[in-house]
Amino acid sequence: MDDANNALTDVELARQFPANFIWGAATAAYQIEGAAREDERGLSIWDAFSATPGKVAGGDTGDVATNHYHRMPEDVKLMKQLGLDAYRFSIAWPRILPDGRGRVNEKGLDFYERLVDNLLEHNIRPFATLFHWDLPLALHHKGGWLNRDTAYAFADYAEIVVWRLGDRISHWITHNEPWCSAYLGYGLGIHAPGLQDRQAALTAGHHVLLSHGLAVPRIRAHTPPTAQVGITLNFTPAYPADDRPETLRDVALADAFSTRWLLDPLYCGGYPEHLFEALQLNAPPIQNDDMALIATPIDFLGVNNYTRSLVRGRPSPATPPLADACDVLSPVPGACYTDMAWEIYPQALSDMLIRLHRDYHVPALYVTENGAAFSDNLNGDTRVHDPRRIDYLRRHIQAIAGAIQQGAPLHGYFVWTLLDNFEWAEGYRKRFGIVYVDYPTQRRIIKDSGHWYANLISTFHSAQNMPQP
Ligand code: FCB
Repeated sequence: MDDANNALTDVELARQFPANFIWGAATAAYQIEGAAREDERGLSIWDAFSATPGKVAGGDTGDVATNHYHRMPEDVKLMKQLGLDAYRFSIAWPRILPDGRGRVNEKGLDFYERLVDNLLEHNIRPFATLFHWDLPLALHHKGGWLNRDTAYAFADYAEIVVWRLGDRISHWITHNEPWCSAYLGYGLGIHAPGLQDRQAALTAGHHVLLSHGLAVPRIRAHTPPTAQVGITLNFTPAYPADDRPETLRDVALADAFSTRWLLDPLYCGGYPEHLFEALQLNAPPIQNDDMALIATPIDFLGVNNYTRSLVRGRPSPATPPLADACDVLSPVPGACYTDMAWEIYPQALSDMLIRLHRDYHVPALYVTENGAAFSDNLNGDTRVHDPRRIDYLRRHIQAIAGAIQQGAPLHGYFVWTLLDNFEWAEGYRKRFGIVYVDYPTQRRIIKDSGHWYANLISTFHSAQNMPQP
């Protein structure tokens, strides 16, 4: 398959996509904005977490990041230069509501209004994510996502943003990767707020989903009927390393936890059966109408995918069957890895898109994140050669073309990410951008992968206007 992919010309690759397919890039507020204490922005759990020694590699913080808050017009020009059709960004809740609820900070809204207007002037469609992990610290002090009230505060916040920007933003994403907010943040503690309590992760996950369900009608109330509302989940599909029964059992458990825990409530109205018993945990605090609220119909699902997990059944029946502690084969013999030690496996993305279409009947899909970290170096002054990233992107884009051919209703693809940025617990040492950031000077240099992506997009648009062979 790889050889065939590599043999495809960009024109052939571009021609595999339907008209109106959207090509974009994604970012998130805390990873790029900087200006952490400017214009009355409140603090978030990530400000507190990154300021805690030992939590983020190199002691890095998002205080300055890529200084996008001040360089926004230049960054939008960069997007235009790349020919992006769309840009997915996130709105920082603590910029809008410094205390999480109550007092609205107009300066925060002004910033996103300037960004959106700038995008629209350049004919770039804005996709806004309302929560990409930067929970206001003030709400954390009241329990954060463990407190049911936070779900109601989120719906209020969503409505405030939509009042101001609802007439201009066509696509709204309530949450980015609730699995990470809940499990990495409250279960494993490797993300903010840094709790290590697996039971708490289930509660946090439930309240995040509830906040989504509460926000959807509030968003619809202030947007035109054409506005599209969705949520983005992360998928690291589990595959069996062999066909032993215990492997198949553990793959099913890994799937229930990593994929279905937060997907099934959205599309099937309930948590996967036996999941909580398998995790040896109690169900989260579910109130009467919660599951119906969470399953409020949405217009699209955002899919983030980077890799897969290859699961081996644990031989000893004495080991408790914990779905989040399965035995993952790594490294996979013969496989290639990114700088995050994530196996490169494009088929996981196409398999997932097809499954969401066939088993969940998701009406519209977007790949809202896909990309790779590699250790890039500035070559001379103007070039960054990143052939492995080009190969990664090309193979994944080929894979999604295959999924579309098999019926997946995929409408767009967003590369993660526009600019090198603050990669959460990994700090700045992992570079995912298609644009290199020279942090000491904040100079932006389009990497070879950025040039390749720009060329693919322009080839796609010209191919739309050419007769098909
Ligand atoms: C995803 C996050 C995104 C980025 C990529 C590499 O889980 O949504 O912010 O960090 O991983």
